[in-house]
Amino acid sequence: MDFNLSEEHKAVQEAARDFAQNELLPGVIERDDVQKFDPTLLRRMGDLGFMGMMVSPEYGGGGMDTVSYAIAIEELSKVDASASVIMSVNNSLVCWGLEKYGNEDQKQKYLTRLAAGEVVGAFCLSEPEAGSDATSQHTTAEDKGDYYLLNGTKNWITNGNTASIYLVMAQTYPEKRHKGINCLIVEKGMEGFSVGKKEDKMGIRASDTHSLMFTDVKVPKENRIGEDGMGFKFAMSTLNGGRIGIAAQALGIAAGAYELALAYSLQRKTFAKPIFEHQAIQFKLAEMATRIEAARLLVYKAARLKDEGKEFVKEAAMAKLYASDVAMWVTTEAVQVHGGYGYVKEYHVERLMRDAKITQIYEGTSEIQKIVIARELLK
Ligand code: CAA
Repeated sequence: MDFNLSEEHKAVQEAARDFAQNELLPGVIERDDVQKFDPTLLRRMGDLGFMGMMVSPEYGGGGMDTVSYAIAIEELSKVDASASVIMSVNNSLVCWGLEKYGNEDQKQKYLTRLAAGEVVGAFCLSEPEAGSDATSQHTTAEDKGDYYLLNGTKNWITNGNTASIYLVMAQTYPEKRHKGINCLIVEKGMEGFSVGKKEDKMGIRASDTHSLMFTDVKVPKENRIGEDGMGFKFAMSTLNGGRIGIAAQALGIAAGAYELALAYSLQRKTFAKPIFEHQAIQFKLAEMATRIEAARLLVYKAARLKDEGKEFVKEAAMAKLYASDVAMWVTTEAVQVHGGYGYVKEYHVERLMRDAKITQIYEGTSEIQKIVIARELLK
């Protein structure tokens, strides 16, 4: 076992930290307030290579490993979890899925632009009646010969309006249940496709989350990813890797809140001494640091297993389950360390606390992660 970061990993960490602290931090409170991400920052993320980190250089990506990706997500999430979810969905759900399962034409046409950050992607699985129960897809993709006729509604779609390219899961053969699902590449602007209501969320407010409507959208057959009926397998296998990204996001949110709480505890005085010198505060910080370190080890382990081409489904689910609980607990404690100051926006920790909650919900709730882990235990 080697717990040290390589020189390459350290360079990624430094670059991501610089970007987060110098470019994301100014304006993060305002973006949360107005619920809008800055397109200039999005372009910067593309220029710096954050939108296609793991895509091979052949398709314009960074050719980096999953550990590098997790490190970068952690650094961005310390400051701005809206930026990191935009990045995470584009990298691990859209780019990774396209590179692994797409054909050469699809990669040339879509992946190259997504990896460069010229366009943003969205992953469309959830529906009004299919969240945790993802096999229960009501959106239909009727086979019409050389095209699919797509009808239905998707909900809670990250990058819903920012995206230009959408990977949409839909049922072609209802009698085959999950084996009848296909994944289709849908472009914004296709006739019959419209972006619906924007959600007014508790956290990650600068990232846009929308419902999407498909009414008789004609999607060419060449836009289907993989074999006929392999859409659910595509979604599950893509989400396995995506969960490492969200675990890294949760880790970053926790680490960001901890760093703020530690700095505050050294500067704020009560009873004639910095609050860090009170054991009540020391115990909180010690516990935060310990849980964060444990979460980090789980995240890096899952990422390393994936990079080595080994089984990582259980470890990714464990990392997400644990890191998201750590994020919720640490951010709540960080607000407590800040007292009244923690309850106002200026001190950042209340935003991190609101952002933390979603990590226990999206890309599979904590309860779903426990199902995944339990099933893996029996294998
Ligand atoms: N990896 C690979 N394959 C998997 C898998 C996994 N983790 N989990 C299930 N599968 C496969 C099974 O092997 C099975 O395939 P076969 O029939 O070929 O054997 C098939 O999928 C169906 O599995 P089950 O019979 O186990 O189906 P189920 O209905 O009992 O349970 C589930 C499936 C694991 C609960 C699944 O529905 C699930 O993961 N739900 C959560 C969905 C989710 O994570 N949604 C997130 C939305 S995307 C998002 O949040 C993105 C964002 O915007 C940030």
